[in-house]
Amino acid sequence: MQLQGAFVFLSALAAATASPVHRRCDGSGAGNPPAPANGVTYVLPSTGGPTSLPAPDAPLKHIVVGHGVQNYTCTTVGAAGVSVGALAVLHDVTALYPGSGPGAISSTTWNSLTSTVLRTTTLPINTNDVSSPFPAPADLTVSGLPYPLPFIGHHYFDINNTPTFSLHNDAELLKAQKILNIPAPSTADRGLNSEGAVDWLYLSDKGGSIGLTKVYRVLTSGGSSAACSAVGETQSVPYTAMYWLY
Ligand SMILES: *[C@@H]1O[C@H](CO)[C@@H](O)[C@H](O)[C@H]1NC(C)=O
Repeated sequence: MQLQGAFVFLSALAAATASPVHRRCDGSGAGNPPAPANGVTYVLPSTGGPTSLPAPDAPLKHIVVGHGVQNYTCTTVGAAGVSVGALAVLHDVTALYPGSGPGAISSTTWNSLTSTVLRTTTLPINTNDVSSPFPAPADLTVSGLPYPLPFIGHHYFDINNTPTFSLHNDAELLKAQKILNIPAPSTADRGLNSEGAVDWLYLSDKGGSIGLTKVYRVLTSGGSSAACSAVGETQSVPYTAMYWLY
């Protein structure tokens, strides 16, 4: 029942986003180093472990924090569930980047930002209403931050199960495919029920994107599947992550 509802919802989203066909050709092609607008060098977080994500090769567009759920279905009792998508509300944190200007925060506050949002703000997903899971767009007040985080968009999986990032009402859109995943560092926040932090990811445009070509998911908190107690069980596990969009 829940999945059917989700399907209807995702169909509606796909219909809403399918019509415009745009090419991702803005003249700022791959090969350029990240080009911050203000002379600040934005350094993508690294795990500090033996594996790392490839260095960004395109201009940074936004850094956002996502808060939502990772969904799973269960096929084997006792094993982790199989990922079937995710939903998250996105807030712009670019201006908070340490050293980037008057709105910046300390490195310590920045590095724990996803954990803070996971643990001190309300999950912005209505898990009881699959036809309308997102609340009305609103800026997010987070205790300890100098100002509310501007709402910027949503992350969801579309009708084709494509991970999608919609910013500013689809003015910027990333239809993504996963290139690489690496484990979150052992120091990551394991989540509200200690289920574990989801992997860090690197995804790139799979066609149909607007103004964006790459995204990195880093500083993840929570979101991993808990051990399944029944076949067919579904899980929606709260998570936060920082997404760096290029
Ligand atoms: C994930 O689960 C939520 C309910 O917790 C539901 O609203 C949403 O449609 C599901 N999304 C996907 C992609 O399965």
